[in-house]
Amino acid sequence: MKFEIKRICCIGAGYVGGPTMAVIADKCPSIRVTVLDINNQKILDWNDNDLSNLPVYEPGLDKIIKRCRGVNLFFSTNIKEEISLADMIFLSVNTPTKTKGIGAGQASDLKWIEASTRQIASYAKGQTIVVEKSTLPVRTAETIKLILEAQNDDNNKKEENNNQFYILSNPEFLAEGTAINDLENPDRVLIGGENESAISALAKIYENWIDPKKILRTNLWSSELSKLTANAFLAQRISSINSISGLCEKTGADIGEVSKAIGMDRRIGSEFLKPGPGFGGSCFKKDILNLIYICNYYGLHEVAEYWEGVIKINSWQQNRIVRVIINKLFGTVAEKSIAILGFSFKSNTNDTRESPAIKICNDLINEGAKLKIYDPKVSKKKIELDLNLKSTVENICSPNGSWLYSTTILDAAKGVDGIVILTDWNEFKNINWNELYKYSRKPTWLFDSRNVCDTDKAKEENIKVWELGSSSSE
Ligand code: UDX
Ligand code: UDX
Repeated sequence: MKFEIKRICCIGAGYVGGPTMAVIADKCPSIRVTVLDINNQKILDWNDNDLSNLPVYEPGLDKIIKRCRGVNLFFSTNIKEEISLADMIFLSVNTPTKTKGIGAGQASDLKWIEASTRQIASYAKGQTIVVEKSTLPVRTAETIKLILEAQNDDNNKKEENNNQFYILSNPEFLAEGTAINDLENPDRVLIGGENESAISALAKIYENWIDPKKILRTNLWSSELSKLTANAFLAQRISSINSISGLCEKTGADIGEVSKAIGMDRRIGSEFLKPGPGFGGSCFKKDILNLIYICNYYGLHEVAEYWEGVIKINSWQQNRIVRVIINKLFGTVAEKSIAILGFSFKSNTNDTRESPAIKICNDLINEGAKLKIYDPKVSKKKIELDLNLKSTVENICSPNGSWLYSTTILDAAKGVDGIVILTDWNEFKNINWNELYKYSRKPTWLFDSRNVCDTDKAKEENIKVWELGSSSSE
Protein backbone atom coordinates (compact mmCIF):
# COMPACT_ATOMS: atom_id res chain seq x y z
CA MET A 1 0.00 0.00 0.00
CA LYS A 2 1.45 3.33 -1.00
CA PHE A 3 -0.29 6.64 -0.53
CA GLU A 4 -0.09 9.55 -2.87
CA ILE A 5 -0.99 12.73 -1.06
CA LYS A 6 -2.21 15.46 -3.38
CA ARG A 7 -4.96 17.01 -1.40
CA ILE A 8 -5.18 17.58 2.35
CA CYS A 9 -7.67 19.33 4.56
CA CYS A 10 -7.71 20.36 8.18
CA ILE A 11 -10.80 20.62 10.40
CA GLY A 12 -10.30 23.61 12.72
CA ALA A 13 -8.93 26.96 11.51
CA GLY A 14 -7.63 28.08 14.92
CA TYR A 15 -4.27 28.90 16.45
CA VAL A 16 -2.92 25.46 15.55
CA GLY A 17 -4.78 24.55 12.33
CA GLY A 18 -4.27 27.94 10.63
CA PRO A 19 -0.49 28.42 10.99
CA THR A 20 0.30 24.69 10.61
CA MET A 21 -1.54 24.35 7.32
CA ALA A 22 -0.12 27.65 6.05
CA VAL A 23 3.43 26.36 6.54
CA ILE A 24 2.64 22.96 4.96
CA ALA A 25 1.14 24.74 1.92
CA ASP A 26 4.15 27.04 1.71
CA LYS A 27 6.64 24.17 1.84
CA CYS A 28 4.70 21.77 -0.41
CA PRO A 29 3.54 23.65 -3.53
CA SER A 30 2.29 20.45 -5.16
CA ILE A 31 -0.21 19.74 -2.38
CA ARG A 32 -3.55 21.50 -2.24
CA VAL A 33 -4.36 22.44 1.35
CA THR A 34 -7.79 23.51 2.62
CA VAL A 35 -8.48 24.67 6.15
CA LEU A 36 -12.08 24.13 7.27
CA ASP A 37 -14.09 25.52 10.12
CA ILE A 38 -17.71 25.45 11.24
CA ASN A 39 -17.34 29.10 12.20
CA ASN A 40 -18.27 31.07 9.10
CA GLN A 41 -16.95 34.38 10.41
CA LYS A 42 -13.55 32.85 11.12
CA ILE A 43 -13.28 31.63 7.52
CA LEU A 44 -14.32 35.07 6.25
CA ASP A 45 -11.57 36.60 8.38
CA TRP A 46 -8.97 34.13 7.06
CA ASN A 47 -10.02 35.16 3.55
CA ASP A 48 -9.98 38.90 4.33
CA ASN A 49 -7.90 41.02 1.98
CA ASP A 50 -6.74 43.06 4.94
CA LEU A 51 -4.05 40.80 6.38
CA SER A 52 -4.08 42.63 9.72
CA ASN A 53 -7.55 41.20 10.22
CA LEU A 54 -6.57 37.51 10.26
CA PRO A 55 -8.15 35.66 13.22
CA VAL A 56 -4.73 34.61 14.50
CA TYR A 57 -1.92 37.09 15.10
CA GLU A 58 1.41 35.39 14.63
CA PRO A 59 4.60 37.12 13.42
CA GLY A 60 5.36 36.10 9.81
CA LEU A 61 1.99 34.42 9.22
CA ASP A 62 0.60 37.25 7.07
CA LYS A 63 3.46 36.92 4.57
CA ILE A 64 2.80 33.21 4.08
CA ILE A 65 -0.93 33.80 3.68
CA LYS A 66 -0.18 36.44 1.06
CA ARG A 67 2.06 34.02 -0.83
CA CYS A 68 -0.11 30.91 -0.71
CA ARG A 69 -3.75 31.87 -0.26
CA GLY A 70 -5.68 31.18 -3.45
CA VAL A 71 -2.67 29.33 -4.89
CA ASN A 72 -2.54 26.06 -2.95
CA LEU A 73 -3.97 27.22 0.39
CA PHE A 74 -7.70 27.71 0.86
CA PHE A 75 -10.02 28.52 3.75
CA SER A 76 -13.53 27.17 3.47
CA THR A 77 -16.70 26.09 5.24
CA ASN A 78 -17.46 23.52 2.59
CA ILE A 79 -16.70 20.66 4.95
CA LYS A 80 -18.57 17.94 3.08
CA GLU A 81 -16.91 18.40 -0.29
CA GLU A 82 -13.40 18.98 1.02
CA ILE A 83 -13.51 15.88 3.23
CA SER A 84 -14.72 13.76 0.34
CA LEU A 85 -11.82 14.91 -1.85
CA ALA A 86 -9.00 14.74 0.72
CA ASP A 87 -6.30 12.07 0.83
CA MET A 88 -5.30 13.16 4.32
CA ILE A 89 -7.39 14.96 6.98
CA PHE A 90 -5.93 16.76 9.99
CA LEU A 91 -8.05 17.14 13.12
CA SER A 92 -7.25 20.41 14.77
CA VAL A 93 -10.35 21.30 16.71
CA ASN A 94 -10.20 22.50 20.29
CA THR A 95 -10.42 20.13 23.24
CA PRO A 96 -11.17 22.28 26.30
CA THR A 97 -11.42 20.97 29.85
CA LYS A 98 -14.90 19.65 30.62
CA THR A 99 -16.97 22.07 32.69
CA LYS A 100 -19.67 19.60 33.70
CA GLY A 101 -20.40 15.91 34.00
CA ILE A 102 -17.94 13.13 34.71
CA GLY A 103 -14.38 14.40 34.93
CA ALA A 104 -15.52 18.06 35.04
CA GLY A 105 -12.58 20.35 35.72
CA GLN A 106 -10.03 17.75 34.61
CA ALA A 107 -10.98 15.59 31.65
CA SER A 108 -10.87 17.04 28.14
CA ASP A 109 -14.14 17.58 26.37
CA LEU A 110 -13.93 15.50 23.23
CA LYS A 111 -17.28 16.47 21.74
CA TRP A 112 -15.67 18.46 18.94
CA ILE A 113 -13.31 15.62 18.11
CA GLU A 114 -16.25 13.24 18.01
CA ALA A 115 -18.35 15.58 15.87
CA SER A 116 -15.50 16.08 13.39
CA THR A 117 -14.75 12.37 13.27
CA ARG A 118 -18.38 11.68 12.46
CA GLN A 119 -18.18 14.22 9.62
CA ILE A 120 -15.16 12.34 8.28
CA ALA A 121 -16.98 9.04 8.65
CA SER A 122 -19.93 10.36 6.68
CA TYR A 123 -18.18 12.16 3.85
CA ALA A 124 -14.74 10.62 3.27
CA LYS A 125 -14.21 8.47 0.21
CA GLY A 126 -11.64 5.77 -0.48
CA GLN A 127 -8.37 5.51 1.44
CA THR A 128 -8.07 8.34 3.94
CA ILE A 129 -5.39 9.09 6.49
CA VAL A 130 -6.77 10.85 9.58
CA VAL A 131 -4.19 12.78 11.58
CA GLU A 132 -4.74 13.88 15.21
CA LYS A 133 -3.18 17.32 15.52
CA SER A 134 -5.05 18.52 18.60
CA THR A 135 -3.56 17.53 21.94
CA LEU A 136 -5.68 14.66 23.07
CA PRO A 137 -5.97 12.40 26.05
CA VAL A 138 -4.08 9.16 25.64
CA ARG A 139 -5.99 6.53 23.66
CA THR A 140 -8.28 9.01 21.86
CA ALA A 141 -7.09 7.50 18.59
CA GLU A 142 -8.98 4.41 19.66
CA THR A 143 -12.24 6.39 19.89
CA ILE A 144 -11.62 7.93 16.49
CA LYS A 145 -10.94 4.49 15.07
CA LEU A 146 -14.12 3.04 16.57
CA ILE A 147 -16.27 5.78 15.07
CA LEU A 148 -14.66 5.47 11.66
CA GLU A 149 -14.79 1.68 11.65
CA ALA A 150 -18.44 1.68 12.71
CA GLN A 151 -19.10 3.61 9.54
CA ASN A 152 -17.11 1.05 7.56
CA ASP A 153 -19.35 -1.68 8.91
CA ASP A 154 -22.30 0.08 7.42
CA ASN A 155 -22.57 -2.06 4.30
CA ASN A 156 -24.33 0.48 2.10
CA LYS A 157 -21.68 3.08 2.70
CA LYS A 158 -18.95 0.52 2.21
CA GLU A 159 -20.08 -0.39 -1.25
CA GLU A 160 -20.65 3.21 -2.14
CA ASN A 161 -17.35 4.65 -0.93
CA ASN A 162 -15.02 1.74 -0.35
CA ASN A 163 -13.72 3.53 2.72
CA GLN A 164 -10.56 2.67 4.55
CA PHE A 165 -9.14 4.82 7.36
CA TYR A 166 -5.63 5.01 8.80
CA ILE A 167 -5.18 6.96 12.03
CA LEU A 168 -2.02 8.83 12.95
CA SER A 169 -1.12 10.94 15.96
CA ASN A 170 1.02 13.92 15.02
CA PRO A 171 0.96 16.31 17.99
CA GLU A 172 1.86 19.92 17.33
CA PHE A 173 4.59 21.37 19.52
CA LEU A 174 4.41 24.96 18.24
CA ALA A 175 4.25 27.73 20.81
CA GLU A 176 2.10 30.73 20.03
CA GLY A 177 4.01 33.87 19.17
CA THR A 178 6.81 31.83 17.59
CA ALA A 179 4.56 29.44 15.64
CA ILE A 180 6.03 30.06 12.19
CA ASN A 181 9.62 29.54 13.28
CA ASP A 182 8.61 26.52 15.39
CA LEU A 183 6.88 24.99 12.37
CA GLU A 184 9.69 25.78 9.96
CA ASN A 185 12.47 24.62 12.30
CA PRO A 186 10.99 22.16 14.78
CA ASP A 187 13.13 20.37 17.37
CA ARG A 188 11.37 17.19 16.28
CA VAL A 189 8.25 15.94 14.56
CA LEU A 190 6.42 13.06 16.16
CA ILE A 191 4.33 10.63 14.15
CA GLY A 192 2.55 7.81 15.95
CA GLY A 193 0.63 5.12 14.13
CA GLU A 194 0.11 1.50 13.28
CA ASN A 195 0.39 1.51 9.51
CA GLU A 196 3.93 2.04 8.19
CA SER A 197 2.81 3.34 4.79
CA ALA A 198 0.50 5.92 6.35
CA ILE A 199 3.30 7.05 8.68
CA SER A 200 5.66 7.32 5.71
CA ALA A 201 3.14 9.35 3.73
CA LEU A 202 3.01 11.99 6.47
CA ALA A 203 6.76 11.82 7.06
CA LYS A 204 7.28 12.50 3.35
CA ILE A 205 5.34 15.75 3.62
CA TYR A 206 7.56 16.95 6.48
CA GLU A 207 10.72 15.79 4.68
CA ASN A 208 10.12 18.61 2.20
CA TRP A 209 11.76 20.91 4.74
CA ILE A 210 12.73 18.91 7.84
CA ASP A 211 15.75 16.65 8.34
CA PRO A 212 14.42 13.04 8.39
CA LYS A 213 16.51 12.41 11.53
CA LYS A 214 14.20 14.78 13.39
CA ILE A 215 11.10 12.83 12.42
CA LEU A 216 10.34 10.31 15.14
CA ARG A 217 8.10 7.34 14.49
CA THR A 218 6.35 5.80 17.50
CA ASN A 219 3.24 3.87 18.36
CA LEU A 220 0.01 5.84 18.73
CA TRP A 221 -0.06 5.89 22.52
CA SER A 222 3.54 7.00 22.96
CA SER A 223 2.90 9.87 20.59
CA GLU A 224 -0.22 11.03 22.44
CA LEU A 225 1.40 10.68 25.85
CA SER A 226 4.61 12.46 24.76
CA LYS A 227 2.68 15.63 24.01
CA LEU A 228 0.97 15.69 27.42
CA THR A 229 4.28 14.89 29.10
CA ALA A 230 6.22 17.59 27.23
CA ASN A 231 3.68 20.21 28.28
CA ALA A 232 3.60 18.95 31.88
CA PHE A 233 7.41 19.11 32.13
CA LEU A 234 7.52 22.62 30.66
CA ALA A 235 4.79 23.87 32.99
CA GLN A 236 6.57 22.23 35.92
CA ARG A 237 9.68 24.30 35.22
CA ILE A 238 7.66 27.50 35.33
CA SER A 239 5.97 26.55 38.59
CA SER A 240 9.35 25.56 40.04
CA ILE A 241 11.00 28.87 39.21
CA ASN A 242 7.89 30.81 40.31
CA SER A 243 7.91 29.03 43.67
CA ILE A 244 11.52 30.13 44.14
CA SER A 245 10.64 33.73 43.12
CA GLY A 246 8.53 33.96 46.29
CA LEU A 247 11.44 32.69 48.37
CA CYS A 248 13.83 35.20 46.77
CA GLU A 249 11.62 38.10 47.80
CA LYS A 250 11.79 36.92 51.42
CA THR A 251 15.48 36.07 51.63
CA GLY A 252 17.40 38.69 49.69
CA ALA A 253 18.27 36.45 46.75
CA ASP A 254 17.48 37.66 43.24
CA ILE A 255 15.45 35.39 40.95
CA GLY A 256 17.26 36.62 37.82
CA GLU A 257 20.60 35.64 39.31
CA VAL A 258 19.32 32.30 40.58
CA SER A 259 17.70 31.52 37.24
CA LYS A 260 20.91 32.31 35.34
CA ALA A 261 23.04 30.29 37.74
CA ILE A 262 20.93 27.15 37.54
CA GLY A 263 20.31 27.54 33.79
CA MET A 264 24.05 27.31 33.09
CA ASP A 265 24.04 23.78 34.42
CA ARG A 266 23.80 21.78 31.19
CA ARG A 267 21.62 19.20 32.90
CA ILE A 268 19.04 21.87 33.67
CA GLY A 269 19.36 24.18 30.64
CA SER A 270 18.48 27.85 30.38
CA GLU A 271 15.10 27.80 28.63
CA PHE A 272 11.77 28.12 30.40
CA LEU A 273 13.17 29.54 33.60
CA LYS A 274 11.63 33.00 33.36
CA PRO A 275 9.55 33.84 36.40
CA GLY A 276 6.22 35.52 35.76
CA PRO A 277 2.57 35.69 36.74
CA GLY A 278 2.15 31.99 35.96
CA PHE A 279 1.67 30.04 32.76
CA GLY A 280 -1.36 30.57 30.57
CA GLY A 281 -2.31 29.43 27.08
CA SER A 282 -4.59 26.77 25.77
CA CYS A 283 -2.45 23.77 26.61
CA PHE A 284 -0.51 23.67 29.87
CA LYS A 285 -3.31 23.71 32.41
CA LYS A 286 -5.63 21.60 30.29
CA ASP A 287 -2.99 18.97 29.58
CA ILE A 288 -1.84 18.68 33.19
CA LEU A 289 -5.45 18.37 34.36
CA ASN A 290 -5.86 15.68 31.80
CA LEU A 291 -2.77 13.86 33.04
CA ILE A 292 -4.16 14.10 36.59
CA TYR A 293 -7.46 12.66 35.40
CA ILE A 294 -5.79 9.71 33.69
CA CYS A 295 -3.58 9.02 36.73
CA ASN A 296 -6.58 9.00 39.08
CA TYR A 297 -8.49 6.79 36.63
CA TYR A 298 -5.71 4.22 36.81
CA GLY A 299 -5.48 4.53 40.62
CA LEU A 300 -2.15 6.38 40.55
CA HIS A 301 -3.27 8.94 43.14
CA GLU A 302 0.20 9.97 44.32
CA VAL A 303 1.20 10.71 40.73
CA ALA A 304 -1.96 12.76 40.30
CA GLU A 305 -1.18 14.77 43.45
CA TYR A 306 2.36 15.39 42.25
CA TRP A 307 1.10 17.11 39.08
CA GLU A 308 -1.67 18.92 40.96
CA GLY A 309 1.11 20.75 42.78
CA VAL A 310 2.21 22.37 39.51
CA ILE A 311 -1.25 23.86 39.00
CA LYS A 312 -1.53 24.95 42.63
CA ILE A 313 1.70 26.93 42.44
CA ASN A 314 0.42 28.61 39.29
CA SER A 315 -2.70 29.89 41.10
CA TRP A 316 -0.64 30.79 44.15
CA GLN A 317 1.60 33.02 42.03
CA GLN A 318 -1.37 34.95 40.64
CA ASN A 319 -3.01 35.32 44.06
CA ARG A 320 0.12 36.63 45.67
CA ILE A 321 0.66 39.23 42.92
CA VAL A 322 -2.83 40.58 43.66
CA ARG A 323 -2.00 40.67 47.40
CA VAL A 324 1.26 42.53 46.74
CA ILE A 325 -0.53 45.19 44.66
CA ILE A 326 -3.17 45.74 47.34
CA ASN A 327 -0.59 45.89 50.15
CA LYS A 328 1.64 48.38 48.38
CA LEU A 329 -1.32 50.63 47.55
CA PHE A 330 -1.94 51.14 51.28
CA GLY A 331 -4.10 48.06 51.78
CA THR A 332 -6.92 49.04 49.47
CA VAL A 333 -7.48 49.47 45.74
CA ALA A 334 -11.13 50.46 46.05
CA GLU A 335 -11.87 53.24 43.55
CA LYS A 336 -8.19 53.57 42.70
CA SER A 337 -7.10 53.64 39.07
CA ILE A 338 -4.60 50.98 38.06
CA ALA A 339 -3.06 50.52 34.62
CA ILE A 340 -2.78 46.97 33.34
CA LEU A 341 -0.21 46.62 30.58
CA GLY A 342 -0.60 43.37 28.66
CA PHE A 343 -3.58 41.04 28.60
CA SER A 344 -2.55 38.16 26.29
CA PHE A 345 -1.05 35.08 27.97
CA LYS A 346 2.36 35.87 26.47
CA SER A 347 3.81 38.32 23.97
CA ASN A 348 3.36 38.17 20.19
CA THR A 349 -0.07 36.60 20.28
CA ASN A 350 -3.63 37.89 20.54
CA ASP A 351 -4.64 34.71 22.39
CA THR A 352 -5.95 35.18 25.94
CA ARG A 353 -6.90 31.62 26.83
CA GLU A 354 -5.98 30.97 30.49
CA SER A 355 -4.10 34.27 30.55
CA PRO A 356 -2.98 35.13 34.10
CA ALA A 357 -4.32 38.64 33.35
CA ILE A 358 -7.90 37.36 33.50
CA LYS A 359 -7.68 36.20 37.11
CA ILE A 360 -5.54 39.11 38.27
CA CYS A 361 -7.84 41.71 36.67
CA ASN A 362 -10.99 40.03 37.97
CA ASP A 363 -9.60 39.94 41.51
CA LEU A 364 -8.61 43.62 41.39
CA ILE A 365 -12.02 44.60 39.99
CA ASN A 366 -13.67 42.63 42.79
CA GLU A 367 -11.64 44.69 45.24
CA GLY A 368 -13.24 47.79 43.69
CA ALA A 369 -10.34 48.93 41.48
CA LYS A 370 -10.84 50.97 38.29
CA LEU A 371 -8.58 49.25 35.76
CA LYS A 372 -7.28 50.77 32.55
CA ILE A 373 -6.23 47.92 30.30
CA TYR A 374 -3.84 48.21 27.36
CA ASP A 375 -2.66 45.38 25.10
CA PRO A 376 -1.15 45.90 21.64
CA LYS A 377 -3.05 42.99 20.05
CA VAL A 378 -6.02 42.02 22.21
CA SER A 379 -9.30 43.72 21.28
CA LYS A 380 -11.73 45.43 23.64
CA LYS A 381 -14.38 42.89 22.69
CA LYS A 382 -12.15 39.97 23.67
CA ILE A 383 -11.34 41.49 27.07
CA GLU A 384 -15.04 42.16 27.68
CA LEU A 385 -15.76 38.48 27.01
CA ASP A 386 -12.89 37.28 29.22
CA LEU A 387 -13.76 39.52 32.17
CA ASN A 388 -17.48 39.10 31.58
CA LEU A 389 -17.78 42.85 32.04
CA LYS A 390 -18.23 45.73 29.61
CA SER A 391 -15.61 48.44 29.34
CA THR A 392 -16.83 51.68 30.93
CA VAL A 393 -16.52 55.25 29.74
CA GLU A 394 -13.87 57.28 31.50
CA ASN A 395 -14.35 58.50 35.06
CA ILE A 396 -17.20 56.19 35.86
CA CYS A 397 -16.75 55.23 39.46
CA SER A 398 -18.37 52.08 40.73
CA PRO A 399 -17.97 50.52 44.19
CA ASN A 400 -17.97 47.19 42.37
CA GLY A 401 -14.92 48.06 40.33
CA SER A 402 -14.76 48.66 36.59
CA TRP A 403 -12.41 48.65 33.63
CA LEU A 404 -11.70 50.87 30.67
CA TYR A 405 -10.05 49.93 27.37
CA SER A 406 -6.97 52.01 26.59
CA THR A 407 -5.36 52.33 23.19
CA THR A 408 -1.90 53.53 24.27
CA ILE A 409 0.37 52.99 27.24
CA LEU A 410 0.17 56.67 28.11
CA ASP A 411 -3.60 56.67 27.91
CA ALA A 412 -3.69 53.70 30.31
CA ALA A 413 -1.32 55.35 32.77
CA LYS A 414 -3.10 58.70 33.12
CA GLY A 415 -4.14 59.35 36.70
CA VAL A 416 -3.25 55.91 38.00
CA ASP A 417 -1.70 54.91 41.33
CA GLY A 418 -0.16 51.74 39.98
CA ILE A 419 1.05 50.27 36.70
CA VAL A 420 1.00 46.49 36.47
CA ILE A 421 2.92 44.64 33.75
CA LEU A 422 1.30 41.29 32.99
CA THR A 423 2.64 40.35 29.53
CA ASP A 424 6.22 40.44 28.25
CA TRP A 425 5.51 42.62 25.18
CA ASN A 426 8.70 44.10 23.74
CA GLU A 427 7.37 47.65 23.78
CA PHE A 428 7.22 47.55 27.60
CA LYS A 429 11.03 47.47 27.67
CA ASN A 430 11.27 51.06 26.47
CA ILE A 431 8.49 52.85 28.28
CA ASN A 432 9.15 56.56 28.69
CA TRP A 433 8.86 56.71 32.49
CA ASN A 434 9.52 60.42 32.59
CA GLU A 435 6.43 61.12 30.53
CA LEU A 436 4.25 58.59 32.36
CA TYR A 437 5.18 59.96 35.74
CA LYS A 438 3.91 63.42 34.76
CA TYR A 439 0.40 62.06 34.33
CA SER A 440 0.14 59.48 37.12
CA ARG A 441 -0.97 60.05 40.71
CA LYS A 442 1.80 60.12 43.33
CA PRO A 443 3.15 57.98 44.85
CA THR A 444 3.13 55.87 41.69
CA TRP A 445 3.95 52.19 41.81
CA LEU A 446 5.27 49.96 39.05
CA PHE A 447 4.55 46.25 39.53
CA ASP A 448 6.63 44.35 36.99
CA SER A 449 5.49 40.71 37.10
CA ARG A 450 7.51 39.82 33.99
CA ASN A 451 10.78 41.60 34.76
CA VAL A 452 10.74 43.30 31.37
CA CYS A 453 10.83 46.98 32.28
CA ASP A 454 13.84 49.18 32.65
CA THR A 455 13.20 49.59 36.36
CA ASP A 456 16.34 51.69 36.95
CA LYS A 457 14.91 54.37 34.66
CA ALA A 458 11.55 54.15 36.44
CA LYS A 459 13.26 54.55 39.83
CA GLU A 460 15.14 57.61 38.54
CA GLU A 461 11.73 59.23 37.99
CA ASN A 462 10.77 58.50 41.59
CA ILE A 463 8.45 55.69 40.65
CA LYS A 464 8.28 53.04 43.35
CA VAL A 465 9.08 49.63 41.96
CA TRP A 466 8.12 46.06 42.83
CA GLU A 467 9.88 43.45 40.72
CA LEU A 468 8.92 39.80 40.85
CA GLY A 469 11.49 37.73 42.73
CA SER A 470 13.62 40.62 43.87
CA SER A 471 14.04 41.50 47.52
CA SER A 472 15.24 45.01 46.70
CA SER A 473 11.69 46.08 45.89
CA GLU A 474 10.67 49.03 48.05
C1 UDX B 1 -5.35 24.06 20.18
C2 UDX B 1 -4.96 22.61 20.08
O1 UDX B 1 -5.14 22.14 18.76
C3 UDX B 1 -5.73 21.78 20.96
O2 UDX B 1 -5.03 20.59 21.12
C4 UDX B 1 -5.87 22.37 22.28
O3 UDX B 1 -6.65 21.51 23.01
C5 UDX B 1 -6.48 23.72 22.22
O4 UDX B 1 -5.69 24.51 21.44
P1 UDX B 1 -6.43 25.77 18.72
O5 UDX B 1 -6.20 25.70 17.27
O6 UDX B 1 -5.54 26.66 19.51
O7 UDX B 1 -6.35 24.33 19.31
O8 UDX B 1 -7.96 26.04 19.08
P2 UDX B 1 -8.90 27.13 18.45
O9 UDX B 1 -8.14 28.32 18.08
O10 UDX B 1 -10.07 27.22 19.37
O11 UDX B 1 -9.38 26.46 17.07
C6 UDX B 1 -10.22 25.38 16.94
C7 UDX B 1 -11.18 25.64 15.77
O12 UDX B 1 -11.92 24.47 15.48
C8 UDX B 1 -12.18 26.75 16.01
O13 UDX B 1 -12.04 27.73 15.03
C9 UDX B 1 -13.55 26.04 15.89
O14 UDX B 1 -14.54 26.84 15.31
C10 UDX B 1 -13.20 24.85 15.02
N1 UDX B 1 -14.14 23.72 15.13
C11 UDX B 1 -14.49 23.22 16.34
C12 UDX B 1 -14.64 23.14 13.97
O15 UDX B 1 -14.34 23.59 12.87
N2 UDX B 1 -15.48 22.06 14.07
C13 UDX B 1 -15.86 21.55 15.26
O16 UDX B 1 -16.62 20.58 15.30
C14 UDX B 1 -15.35 22.16 16.43
C1 UDX C 1 3.00 25.53 24.85
C2 UDX C 1 4.21 24.66 24.48
O1 UDX C 1 5.41 25.44 24.56
C3 UDX C 1 4.04 24.10 23.10
O2 UDX C 1 5.12 23.23 22.79
C4 UDX C 1 2.74 23.36 23.04
O3 UDX C 1 2.53 22.87 21.74
C5 UDX C 1 1.58 24.23 23.45
O4 UDX C 1 1.81 24.79 24.73
P1 UDX C 1 2.21 28.02 24.30
O5 UDX C 1 1.17 27.77 25.34
O6 UDX C 1 1.80 28.56 22.99
O7 UDX C 1 2.98 26.65 23.98
O8 UDX C 1 3.31 29.03 24.88
P2 UDX C 1 4.64 28.90 25.77
O9 UDX C 1 5.69 29.71 25.13
O10 UDX C 1 4.98 27.51 26.08
O11 UDX C 1 4.22 29.67 27.09
C6 UDX C 1 3.26 29.16 28.01
C7 UDX C 1 3.13 30.06 29.21
O12 UDX C 1 4.27 29.96 30.03
C8 UDX C 1 2.99 31.53 28.88
O13 UDX C 1 2.01 32.10 29.72
C9 UDX C 1 4.35 32.10 29.17
O14 UDX C 1 4.34 33.44 29.47
C10 UDX C 1 4.78 31.23 30.34
N1 UDX C 1 6.24 31.13 30.50
C11 UDX C 1 7.00 30.53 29.55
C12 UDX C 1 6.84 31.62 31.65
O15 UDX C 1 6.17 32.17 32.54
N2 UDX C 1 8.19 31.48 31.79
C13 UDX C 1 8.97 30.88 30.86
O16 UDX C 1 10.20 30.78 31.08
C14 UDX C 1 8.36 30.40 29.70
